Amino acid sequence: MAASAFLSAVLDRRERLDDVLAEAYAEGGRYVRLDRRDRAFARLLASTALRRLGQIDRAVDALLDRPLPARLTRVRHALRLGAAQLLFLETPPHAAVDRTVRLVGRDSPFKGLVNAVLRRLARDRDALLHAPDPAPLNTPAWLWTSWHAAFGEARSREIARAHAMEPPLDLSVKSDAGDWARRLGAEVLPTGSLRRRGGGPIEDLPGYSDGDWWPQDAAAAVPARILLSSLRGNPADARILDSCAAPGGKTAQLAAAGAVVDALDVSAARLRTLRANLRRLDLKANVVESDLRVWTPGRPYEAILVDAPCTATGTIRRHPDVPHLKRPADVARLAELQGQLLAAAADMLAPGGVLVYSACSLQPEEGAEQVERLLSSRRDLERWPIERTDVAGLERSVLPAGDVQTLPCHLAEAGGVDGFFVARLKRTA
Ligand SMILES: C[S@@+](CC[C@H](N)C(=O)[O-])C[C@H]1O[C@@H](n2cnc3c(N)ncnc32)[C@H](O)[C@@H]1O
Repeated sequence: MAASAFLSAVLDRRERLDDVLAEAYAEGGRYVRLDRRDRAFARLLASTALRRLGQIDRAVDALLDRPLPARLTRVRHALRLGAAQLLFLETPPHAAVDRTVRLVGRDSPFKGLVNAVLRRLARDRDALLHAPDPAPLNTPAWLWTSWHAAFGEARSREIARAHAMEPPLDLSVKSDAGDWARRLGAEVLPTGSLRRRGGGPIEDLPGYSDGDWWPQDAAAAVPARILLSSLRGNPADARILDSCAAPGGKTAQLAAAGAVVDALDVSAARLRTLRANLRRLDLKANVVESDLRVWTPGRPYEAILVDAPCTATGTIRRHPDVPHLKRPADVARLAELQGQLLAAAADMLAPGGVLVYSACSLQPEEGAEQVERLLSSRRDLERWPIERTDVAGLERSVLPAGDVQTLPCHLAEAGGVDGFFVARLKRTA
């Protein structure tokens, strides 16, 4: 079953789920023959198992007479997928059990064990799910500890609870949000983004192939909005650098507002995606393939966006593989890179210019600590505090110092948002 291969790729080989899916369904890929419905189900199944892994393993382990040997990964994954169906996806027990037994193989010596565990899972579902709060169970300990220190117990629980839910589809539109909301059956969020529930391939939705909108989480749209609102005159008159631009969600926002953007990124492959996205949207940018740390622009910029590479722990709602792929060492490695990128960008900023720094992370090392370090090392930069009015709908994300930290539990009643850190700085001299 495809979902088992996907789960194994993430958990056993630490591959990104999106990459695994893209390869599986590419021409010549292992699962290219799966139809749309089966593809959607395989993704949902693997994602649910990843989202709820702690809860699932606890429930399964509680039903085993003795621990399952670590080498039996196939059996373990099969049990996880069976449990995901029984505990969280409302799959009828006979279908979930039958599918899982077929997955381990009808001749497998573990067929009986799988059968028995799943039948008991189905029977005792409510009791097995009954725990004071499952949220911390589904979060690796090192992440839980860091969020606990940064946001406190109650907020960390809300964050982890938000990660357990399938997120809605958020869109940014080139123009006429109200009209597109009607046509797409979406709502206009107070942030200005459109939100659509209901799933299905986005390519089939009206306006996608005509390039009228692009998928972008409501929080991911905040940094470019803040940059645009910081410009004094017409965006078309400002020299703007999107310094970590690919795959281009924020470049598209800037270009759609009329800005002529230099869109720089170090990755040729990701820039190919950016070009394709801009082509579909019929938007333009000057694409530059370079490492920001060694690149020299002809003239300084009036506005620079540094949407830095990061651990992406703010995007676990949309990427439930992240907690299983990232390690504390990744935070340290990326924090060092972020410091270098910020320093390079600050050198490219004209006097009076604005620098917006963002990272889709919940880790303080990738957020406020970066800004504090930069400000303490340079006297030509100061914080330009972001006001509550700059982030309509996400007012509670504004921190006392004037930075923004959105959390997955913000806008919870509407389905949450990704976790983004955003800071605005100004070059004084
Ligand atoms: C978070 S992603 C940017 C997402 C993009 N801004 C958007 O909204 O679609 C970070 C990007 O930084 C790029 N990057 C990493 N190191 C870089 C470097 N040294 N110089 C320039 N870009 C870099 C990565 O290739 C990646 O595309």
